Amino acid sequence: MDQGTEKFYGDAKKHWESIPPTVDGMLGGFAKISPTDINGSREFIRPFITMGGGETETNRALDCGAGIGRITKRLLLPIFKEVDMVELSQNFLDQAPAFIGEEFSRVKNRFCSGLQDFCPAEGHYNVIWCQWVLGHLKDDDLINFFQRCQKGLSENGLIFVKENVTSDEREFDSEDSSYTRSLDNLRSLIEKAGLKILLDRKQKGFPKSLYNVYMFALW
Ligand SMILES: C[S@@+](CC[C@H](N)C(=O)[O-])C[C@H]1O[C@@H](n2cnc3c(N)ncnc32)[C@H](O)[C@@H]1O
Repeated sequence: MDQGTEKFYGDAKKHWESIPPTVDGMLGGFAKISPTDINGSREFIRPFITMGGGETETNRALDCGAGIGRITKRLLLPIFKEVDMVELSQNFLDQAPAFIGEEFSRVKNRFCSGLQDFCPAEGHYNVIWCQWVLGHLKDDDLINFFQRCQKGLSENGLIFVKENVTSDEREFDSEDSSYTRSLDNLRSLIEKAGLKILLDRKQKGFPKSLYNVYMFALW
């Protein structure tokens, strides 16, 4: 790995190690937007899954960049029988049992890994959910990660992406060492990975001061 790449990933790790294992920590001080976020995600995923009339089964989901399990607890466990988490920071994963509570028994695996190094088990997941984490991957690593995710899907499985987007150029944040990509940039990386966008939608109801947030269903 070249020095720039090592610094890019190393700085992000250092940043997240300094963040408290709370919902506020996960959302950069915006814990109050969590219910709106989860409701928007629930509406978005619903038509794709069997209980909403879609074709995607609800046996197993993977939460990528899962943190303490905010999405696992509030979005995925209420829908899926089992959920796995993959997350860079062991500290966040350690907090997951206390944060998730009783339903934690249905979290089958907690993988401590950067997504750039992680390979989902082949044909394993009905849904792979990636939210507010893909800006932590370099373009090539993101393309490769998407391709590994595609192989990790079971029949009728889908990848969901929910990320901040800029209205123009890609922006780098040196505080947490991440990129915020434009919508075009994100779409082009998705296509380069050989994935198809089944649906995209802007999340409504977030404060105007925040970036726009888009959801994608990919296959
Ligand atoms: C903004 S938080 C979002 C957490 C969670 N997705 C949520 O929405 O509540 C970003 C998370 O991504 C994790 N992260 C950062 N870089 C990562 C990487 N390269 N691979 C996996 N996780 C990473 C951080 O440790 C942190 O838990």
